Amino acid sequence: MENKNAASVPMKIGIASLDAQHEALFECINKFIRLYLKGEPERGEVEKQFAALVDYTVTHFDDEEFFMRSIDYPELANHAAQHQALRDVVDSFSTRLEAEKDLHTFCGEVIELLKTWLNKHICTLDAKIAVYYQSHGK
Ligand SMILES: [Fe+2]
Ligand SMILES: [Fe+2]
Repeated sequence: MENKNAASVPMKIGIASLDAQHEALFECINKFIRLYLKGEPERGEVEKQFAALVDYTVTHFDDEEFFMRSIDYPELANHAAQHQALRDVVDSFSTRLEAEKDLHTFCGEVIELLKTWLNKHICTLDAKIAVYYQSHGK
């Protein structure tokens, strides 16, 4: 099984503002991992850290979509649809958390999902924004 002790630093795509947000996002995940490692974490803490994680993810997606629009990025629609798919999954986790009894398992699943999804997304779709920006940006 994959090591859950920390989410590795995400790949840098070469756009400083987005790279800084990706790093901050992984720091939010690392806080969640520290909760997970406590065994059975306290509900209030899980709710607080999960809300921060959701909030930061949504803010990052909004900012990244704003950036794509600002450079007339031609693959915005497909990219934004991927973001929306993750927003939907995160929403279903939020609903599940309200009645969840096994918070340790809940945290583990959130960590696995976000680490895997974000690493893949950053290395593929986000990296393509930078390639476009470097050849078409101002
Ligand atoms: Fe993205
Ligand atoms: Fe991103």
